[in-house]
Amino acid sequence: MTLNGLSPDDRLFVLTGAGVSAESGLPTFRGMNGLWRGYRVEEVATPEAFAAEPELVWQFYSERRQRHQTVEPNPAHFAIARLERALGGRFFLCTQNVDSLHEQAGSRRVVHMHGRIMQSRCSNPGCTTPPFDDATAYRTREEIPRCRRCGALVRPHICWFGEVPFEMELIIHQLGEATQVLVVGSSGVVEPAASFVRLARRNRAHTIYVGPEEPANRTFFDEVLQGKAGEMLPQLVQDLVSGGNDP
Ligand code: OAD
Repeated sequence: MTLNGLSPDDRLFVLTGAGVSAESGLPTFRGMNGLWRGYRVEEVATPEAFAAEPELVWQFYSERRQRHQTVEPNPAHFAIARLERALGGRFFLCTQNVDSLHEQAGSRRVVHMHGRIMQSRCSNPGCTTPPFDDATAYRTREEIPRCRRCGALVRPHICWFGEVPFEMELIIHQLGEATQVLVVGSSGVVEPAASFVRLARRNRAHTIYVGPEEPANRTFFDEVLQGKAGEMLPQLVQDLVSGGNDP
């Protein structure tokens, strides 16, 4: 296994997508054919949709909030948390997922580039109220709270289509530092995450993909390990840390 070859100078960047949570029971976007109640996700997950029909957008995210409260991390999440413990500052985890399964499995530093389903924030881009934890399911327009500071509607703390993902500066910096990149369960379709591996390759990082199907950006991977994350990652990580690095 190539990860076995990590040297003390190596820095590992891990990117996870919906596939890492599939075995926990959260459907991938591809798995649901990108559809919800007949709408394409790209029609619901936009600032324009929220401006036109905030209750519809909240119904979509409220269903997901409720679902997220019933799921547990799977062996892939635990394996990734083990990597963080073993590599410390030489490890960076970026996820496209809005669930908290990495944290539930013990990951301490997780960059959620697409936001977090269990948080909300003010929908006014100019408002300085920070995002806050929120597990409420809103279904009607009347139920949607307003920002205490500016009065705008509260929205899910999610990066919608047409918006810039969170913490991009840090992510790009870490991609520049990485010598190894591991991508797990991401179709390689949605930008900018789909281009991370290309960026890392430009800096001569070694790149590995784990998932049951080849991703759309396959050409930028040195290796594709085909299989389910929950079945592949524990052994992959065991191979890596068995050198005695694991605390
Ligand atoms: P996708 O749903 O596009 O792709 C999921 C990938 O996971 C597919 O390539 C599957 O082959 C793979 N997969 C399925 N089961 C798996 C398993 N058990 N182990 C490993 N891999 C498995 O999800 P993403 O690529 O994450 O954005 O999608 C990226 C973004 O598109 C999402 O973050 C979301 C969506 O629009 C926002 O919400 C902003």
